[in-house]
Amino acid sequence: MSARAQIGVTGLAVMGRNLARNFARHGYTVAVHNRSYAKTESLIADHGTDGDFVPSESTADFVASIERPRKIVIMVKAGAATDAVIDELIPHLEEGDVVIDGGNAHFPDTIRREHKLSELGLHFVGMGVSGGEEGALNGPSIMPGGPKESYTTLGPILEDISAKVDGTPCCTWVGPDGAGHFVKMVHNGIEYADMQLIAEAYDLLKHGLGESAAGIGKIFEQWNKGDLESFLIEITADVLQHVDAETGKAFVDVVLDQAEQKGTGRWTVQNALDLGVPITGIAEATFARALSGSVPQREAARAALPGDAGTWQIEDRDAFVEDVRLALYASKLVAYSQGFDQIAAASAEYGWGIDRGAMARIWRGGCIIRAKFLNRITEAYERDENLPLLIADPYFADVVGKGLAAWRRIVAQAALNGVPTPAFASSLSYYDGVRAERLPAALIQAQRDFFGAHTYRRVDREGTFHTEWSGDRSETTA
Ligand code: 6PG
Repeated sequence: MSARAQIGVTGLAVMGRNLARNFARHGYTVAVHNRSYAKTESLIADHGTDGDFVPSESTADFVASIERPRKIVIMVKAGAATDAVIDELIPHLEEGDVVIDGGNAHFPDTIRREHKLSELGLHFVGMGVSGGEEGALNGPSIMPGGPKESYTTLGPILEDISAKVDGTPCCTWVGPDGAGHFVKMVHNGIEYADMQLIAEAYDLLKHGLGESAAGIGKIFEQWNKGDLESFLIEITADVLQHVDAETGKAFVDVVLDQAEQKGTGRWTVQNALDLGVPITGIAEATFARALSGSVPQREAARAALPGDAGTWQIEDRDAFVEDVRLALYASKLVAYSQGFDQIAAASAEYGWGIDRGAMARIWRGGCIIRAKFLNRITEAYERDENLPLLIADPYFADVVGKGLAAWRRIVAQAALNGVPTPAFASSLSYYDGVRAERLPAALIQAQRDFFGAHTYRRVDREGTFHTEWSGDRSETTA
């Protein structure tokens, strides 16, 4: 078997198949392999004309068909399946070969795998790939981590196949070991928040205006011509105007209202809790999916709990629609700001040195959260790479300031009219919390010291103190 392939892909389900086709369409000779050879054969039968593929049935032949230093992309289900493929590959690999995991792996697994392979003289790259099957085929946003030296040979190939914005590839080296998969995980957390906020905006328009799905789809279509221009707004306009062929009803009205999740949003929230980063919008979005699936609780609540909501009277339809748009934009910015805070906190914790501006730049195209305002976020980090809070950037502070009254009206009206808006409301509370002169956390510190002698600090002098609550209430220095 002559080694003539510049890159190899093993795992030819939809994402792996489309990534292999993308490499081939860009002129690379692509070695392809799948546990069941039938999938490899069907790729060649269906898309062999896309370019130069080298199909192999055995792992040994697959590896032997790739030129050194080998670059092998694994596209299988995250978890044990990925470890199994790595273990199958290792005996056939040679020093300096690069194994790339393009699945949605949990970043601690990537850190473990990178350490394991580096001890064998092999490079391991955890690579986030965003954009779904269409992105994999026509240009995803790609977030490779791992040894920087592996990017020297791997980077140009990935940048070739990635999405481009203004000619700039939506791909860059993210940082060592788990950094790439971490950034992809946070991308998905932001995606959850973005989708939840859009869903809440839809719900507000539905309940507030009594508008049909198609009518709301038209509103989203208009919004997509302005600051909210993005992939998720675009597909929402499309989905809401789609009619179910079987019933003739609006498609969204025949879909069961129980959202599922594969796990990346959950991982994002778990990590934020570990790092102490308040990603309230992302967390509420993740919990909202869980609530939607809590069928016994929802049935019990419907049977027992009064709503007492007002009858929603909207005098000015256009003003209300604009209020929802402004509230949606402000809430989205909070979610993105929180996501970038988490990336900064993790980068410091794990020593990754992640460039947040570069992450915003490669998210401008190809990925699920691609949006026009990611250009503005990129610019904000170019103005100040150490920006402590994205929404405090002058541009975004102005945007949120202009929408603040609308944001408050919408959250208040939603509460008064019994429309659940956990992401809108938590984002507004986060905004008011992070800008508050003084927070009630002072009382919590006093409570903690009262029952647990957990000590507190004072505003008027340095040090840590405790009050003898059960004694003479004197204050001692801890
Ligand atoms: C992407 C998507 C993708 C994600 C699916 C399912 O960036 O292309 O985020 O990676 O896994 O959309 O995600 P959930 O099942 O967690 O919603």
